[in-house]
Amino acid sequence: MNPTTKDQLNTLAQHMLDGGVGLALKNESNATHLVMGTGNYDADVVFIGEAPGEEEDLQGKPFVGAAGKFVNTVFGELGMNRDDFYITNIVKYRPPENRDPSPEEIAEFAPHLESELQIVKPRLLVTFGRISLGHFVPEGKIKTIHGQLQRVQLGQQALPLMPLLHPSALRFIKNGRQVFRDDFKLLKEEIDRLT
Ligand code: URA
Repeated sequence: MNPTTKDQLNTLAQHMLDGGVGLALKNESNATHLVMGTGNYDADVVFIGEAPGEEEDLQGKPFVGAAGKFVNTVFGELGMNRDDFYITNIVKYRPPENRDPSPEEIAEFAPHLESELQIVKPRLLVTFGRISLGHFVPEGKIKTIHGQLQRVQLGQQALPLMPLLHPSALRFIKNGRQVFRDDFKLLKEEIDRLT
């Protein structure tokens, strides 16, 4: 029997643990979990944040703290179900004091994120925030291109990518929550077009 997508993701996680991927970061922050993606392992749409926070580290799941709760609210407002999608982060250990992951840390996790995406095979990517966007669209400025569909190359495949603001950063942006909601509506239109 062929391994399911979930089996393949479990194998990837084990491979990362065995290979000590991100070990320096794990030790620096005393992180308790390698936080892999959750949700629908065969989703057409994958959401990508930057790195787990405190609650994510404790539970071993992405976007389960305050930022994740707000995202859940917006999914609900738009009649969408978070469980239909796959949600993950680039960096899979919590950085100390939630600092930004360094370029070296991102580079260490990047090939594994790519493997994760090759396993799930999304048709649309969604980035949360500046760091995740910067990984896929290095020249992209989140303040100008949030809510505007981009095209990125994932291996052999060109994929649309929707940049969203980071749900943790909305209080620093004028009308941040409204802007986030407006972008999410545009995202929903793109998702509806996929089906
Ligand atoms: N912020 C992120 O980028 N990822 C999480 O999982 C939680 C907060």
